[in-house]
Amino acid sequence: MAISNGSLALAIIGLITAGIVTIVAIVAIYECAKMAMKMSLREGMANHQRYTTPSFVNGGGSSGGGGVDADVVEMGSMSHFIEGLQNERPVRFSAQQLRAFTKNYAHKVGSGGFGVVYRGRFPSGVPVAVKVLNSTLGKRAEEQFMAEVGTIGRTYHINLVRLYGFCFDADVKALVYEYMEKGSLDRYLFDSSPSSPAPERIAFEKLHEIAVGTAKAVRYLHEECAQRIIHYDIKPENVLLGAGMAPKVSDFGLAKLCDREDTHLTITGARGTPGYAAPELWMPLPVTHKCDVYSYGMLLFEMLGRRRNLELGGVHGSQEWYPRWVWHRFEAGETEAMLARATAAAAGDGNGREREKAERVCKVALWCVQYRPEERPSMGNVVRMLEGEDHIAAPRNPFAHLAPYSAGSTPTTTTATTESDGSSARTGR
Ligand SMILES: Nc1ncnc2c1ncn2[C@@H]1O[C@H](COP(=O)(O)OP(=O)(O)OP(=O)(O)O)[C@@H](O)[C@H]1O
Ligand SMILES: [Mg+2]
Repeated sequence: MAISNGSLALAIIGLITAGIVTIVAIVAIYECAKMAMKMSLREGMANHQRYTTPSFVNGGGSSGGGGVDADVVEMGSMSHFIEGLQNERPVRFSAQQLRAFTKNYAHKVGSGGFGVVYRGRFPSGVPVAVKVLNSTLGKRAEEQFMAEVGTIGRTYHINLVRLYGFCFDADVKALVYEYMEKGSLDRYLFDSSPSSPAPERIAFEKLHEIAVGTAKAVRYLHEECAQRIIHYDIKPENVLLGAGMAPKVSDFGLAKLCDREDTHLTITGARGTPGYAAPELWMPLPVTHKCDVYSYGMLLFEMLGRRRNLELGGVHGSQEWYPRWVWHRFEAGETEAMLARATAAAAGDGNGREREKAERVCKVALWCVQYRPEERPSMGNVVRMLEGEDHIAAPRNPFAHLAPYSAGSTPTTTTATTESDGSSARTGR
């Protein structure tokens, strides 16, 4: 045979190349077909969902509804088509339906700056929390309300409280959330009122888990949402606990929905909840998502101390402001008392692992409450530092701008605010 070795090699290479090209083409055609099918299915579902009520509301139904905003679902009826599928939009309820869900608002759970929360139940049995918003919201245009509710309702994270729906009619503006059976974190951190029995004391390891879950929720709002959401109100009352004490952050997106500036006036006439609001919120300075990092830091101090940082006229009123007390102990290298307090719990034994976590929480808290927003870490950094993935550099004094030893005193100096990821808090990724 006159075929040279070179020609044989060339023929083999040609055959292999042709084979690869054919396989790639087949895979590409298959993927395109799959994507096209998915898109048409999704479109069909979206059209369908717009006019149906999800199964978690009533567990059955048929078609109905009308022309409504694309971001929400009109309360109409039910179709088996979406049964089992995750509903992606908040449902619109009537005032009458809310009355039925809450048995005429029979069980009040609590109240806050935006309104009053009641416990209720869908006809399907799913428990819900109905937050009836303050009447000041009445001025808000329906379309704007629906658009903002639509944004909140499409924000999913395992550590965020789910918004099932809303009511917007002439007299009632309300939000319907998933019900968190264990209530809010403040119940477990602070002395309970004499009328309600003291709940179980949470071991520090669990508190650390709650801190990490909460940080992941805020990281999601800041870094992973299509449009960044600043919470503006991170505090223990807005960290709700479900089965197994799994934490979920509530009230995200409400600041914008409710014109928070009007509803959350504090004693100083500024924005934010006293004790958690970053300095830039009550001073004429630019406000960024770093204000949430500050509030989160204050929450960490309260986990460490198991007491409120700021107790206006409370039992600890005469003591030094807790975050600054922690800084002084940290600075002096005397963290023993602080760690002992944090890790002393019925279920926990203050073991080495707990103490190591408490130490981490302490350093992260001190970084989060730095006076200058750009010195505070991003929530992504916070998660990594809390989980031990990033080394935590020794924090700087966050309270250098405060007058010495005035409990609960407020900063008196101003600084420019610029964006940064607070990389000084960590030394490695
Ligand atoms: N989804 C929910 N499930 C269970 N309990 C809830 C739910 N939402 C709120 N609560 C309870 O109702 C209380 C009042 O909530 P609300 O949000 O009105 O006020 P707040 O959280 O104290 O302050 P803010 O208005 O600043 O958020 C909360 O502290 C919490 O204990
Ligand atoms: Mg709340």
